[in-house]
Amino acid sequence: MTTERLIAAGSAGPVEEQTNWALRPSRLDEYIGQSELLERLRIAITAGKQRAEPVEHVLLHGPPGLGKTTLAHVIAAEMGCKAHTTSGPALVRGTDLVACLTKLDQGDVLFIDEIHRLPVAVEEFIYPAMEDFRIDVTVDSGLHARTVQIRCKPFTLIGATTRAGLLSAPLRSRFGLTHHLRYYEEPELLLILQRSARLLGLAHAEMDGLRAIAARSRGTPRIANRLLRRVRDYAQVRGDGRIAPSVVDEALALEGVDRLGLDHLDRAYMRTIASVYHGGPVGLETVAATMNEDAGTLEDVVEPYLLQIGFLARTRRGRALTHAGAEHLGIALKTEAASREADAGLF
Ligand SMILES: Nc1ncnc2c1ncn2[C@@H]1O[C@H](COP(=O)(O)OP(=O)(O)OP(=O)(O)O)[C@@H](O)[C@H]1O
Ligand SMILES: [Mg+2]
Repeated sequence: MTTERLIAAGSAGPVEEQTNWALRPSRLDEYIGQSELLERLRIAITAGKQRAEPVEHVLLHGPPGLGKTTLAHVIAAEMGCKAHTTSGPALVRGTDLVACLTKLDQGDVLFIDEIHRLPVAVEEFIYPAMEDFRIDVTVDSGLHARTVQIRCKPFTLIGATTRAGLLSAPLRSRFGLTHHLRYYEEPELLLILQRSARLLGLAHAEMDGLRAIAARSRGTPRIANRLLRRVRDYAQVRGDGRIAPSVVDEALALEGVDRLGLDHLDRAYMRTIASVYHGGPVGLETVAATMNEDAGTLEDVVEPYLLQIGFLARTRRGRALTHAGAEHLGIALKTEAASREADAGLF
């Protein structure tokens, strides 16, 4: 299954989350990267504290594993408040939201993960809660229907989503601060790995070894930490515990992860476009059918990173492999333009 990929950006489940908990930065000063966002948050947090008000509602969007959940806890810690977490699909009815909101203390953070999956019926309750910290509940029906107002304490809503485009405009407009988290640069990942190695008590982690892991982490802290743990196990069992570049190579080659962090599925996808469709452009559905994979899966878990590193291009007529992508596979791409030239030569 695709979710079991070593380099998947999504969480591998509760066990991994638990391990990650120890590696999670708990204050702003420990949070690495995303400097513009941190600057905006520092200002919002300081201003909120000075006015003794909660921080404005924050919407965080971006690919999985970049630190949205972490940030929600960091903001709560900086405000000296608690973070309560829930998710869009968990809030089925308006009453689920009412239960969450009435539990909040002054200034607390309510973190709603996957907020794009919030049911429409619940969304209506959330508007007055976000604006005026009140919830309008309708009791009775028909002629006797009336609205009862419940007040909740001033709080900060932090919404996280990987699909900001699916959020309704009214909901989006009610956030004071909206920010897109970006993929991390290699030096930032190296800092995260150094910190994690220290926390895991890895005395024999060499700088070059950690750099080799950073290069394979697909710009994602969650993947970086996962690869670090995998390499640590390998080094302990097959080596002398040292995390050196050669150990990283061996450990991850065993998992089919190459030096850019691409795995079998990434390469199979690129190779299908290259060999069956001459580099494209070709429709996603067509590639998916050829590979016997689900188009949605390819779109969500394979394409984003290939697009990010410029191995894949999305054109109006479909997906196309770039020269850099073909070069990585070690094949010469017979592009459409090149074949057109060749065809023209025939006449
Ligand atoms: N800026 C950072 N500095 C250090 N470690 C980080 C940072 N961001 C994330 N991490 C690490 O990456 C792990 C994953 O982060 P987190 O769970 O916050 O991601 P997420 O964006 O909420 O992902 P998802 O969309 O899958 O819920 C954390 O456990 C943490 O250890
Ligand atoms: Mg999360």
